[in-house]
Amino acid sequence: MTTGELSTPATEGQSLPDSLRETLAGHYYTDPAIFRAEQDNIFHKTWFCAVLAADLDKPGAFETVQIGRESVIVTRARDNSVRAYLNVCRHRGARLCTEEKGEVKRSFQCPYHAWTYGLDGKLIAAPNLGSMPDVDKVEYGLHTVHVREWLGYVWLSLAEEPPSFTETVIGDVTTRLGSPDAIVGYDVENLKLGRRISYDVTANWKQIVENFMECYHCATIHPELTEVLPEFADGLAAQYFVGHGAEFGEEIKGFTVDGSEGLTRIPGVAQEQDRRYYAITVRPSVFINLVPDHVVFHRMFPLTAERTLVVCDWLYLPEVVDSGADIDRSVELFHRVNVQDFDACERCQLAMDSRSYEKGGVLVPSEHHIGEFHDWVRDRVG
Ligand code: FES
Ligand code: FE
Repeated sequence: MTTGELSTPATEGQSLPDSLRETLAGHYYTDPAIFRAEQDNIFHKTWFCAVLAADLDKPGAFETVQIGRESVIVTRARDNSVRAYLNVCRHRGARLCTEEKGEVKRSFQCPYHAWTYGLDGKLIAAPNLGSMPDVDKVEYGLHTVHVREWLGYVWLSLAEEPPSFTETVIGDVTTRLGSPDAIVGYDVENLKLGRRISYDVTANWKQIVENFMECYHCATIHPELTEVLPEFADGLAAQYFVGHGAEFGEEIKGFTVDGSEGLTRIPGVAQEQDRRYYAITVRPSVFINLVPDHVVFHRMFPLTAERTLVVCDWLYLPEVVDSGADIDRSVELFHRVNVQDFDACERCQLAMDSRSYEKGGVLVPSEHHIGEFHDWVRDRVG
């Protein structure tokens, strides 16, 4: 190679052996047009896990979340049901709420011309509305968004006709765990938030999904995790195939950063699930980790083609949280895993525009299920 020349991309002119698969090409992780297509065909169409329901602790409590290109207000109405609306005033389109979270007494008022909407989304007041009989209060209410509550979280769909929640969301969990009942014993909806950490990751959301789906990297970057779960040290794709659960090491007392004793075990966890770790990816944006004494629940919010917010909740039995028990060693294990994983995702993101990755890379056999995720994305984005 003469100075200044680059070698040809690794896969050019070669056909891959059967044991390898190609990844998505680099521009899938940087191109704003592809990101826009993902917003339209994935985030605006599927079910999206938005808010921890317990965070909306009374009527009028609200959070705003970004789903694709839409900002959505999620609130609790006077009848205690959770409602969600597009965060857009029906008058001239001003953003109604600019706060990430807060509480209103009984209505949302637009800061521009003061149109006011009830917690049920109806237009209830506007300056001089009496002189505007043609403005129908229901017709000009806020646009509603479909809501489901499951596992203690509020899931939203921006689709006019959402896909089946049972088939798409619960189906993903069932596929990973082998049975829809396998998650029931963890009683996730009745656990309580012990700690929340948000990670602002400079990487495309698919990097984060792909990383979570494989454990080929575990031996290299997760020393604490492989200490607790020795089978992860062999680099197999255990996280995806843990219908059987990954077993704690013999010396390990709990799922903690140093393998020391954990917190009180969730009573419904079946005997065969004790001392095991289960990981589930719910496409497109949720990762759930189940261990005997807590649940680690990740929600992803893709913000741009190259930036993703990940909000991670550590959930414990309410009595554990209320007692003020020390959960630091418990939180620290997965916090380190998160930091290690997101560093790796950012490191890959740096190369996505490189000529070397124009045609993508390869998936080794233990990463092959990432290929299924790529097919799922391609089917939707083209
Ligand atoms: Fe909201 Fe005018 S834009 S009241
Ligand atoms: Fe990892």
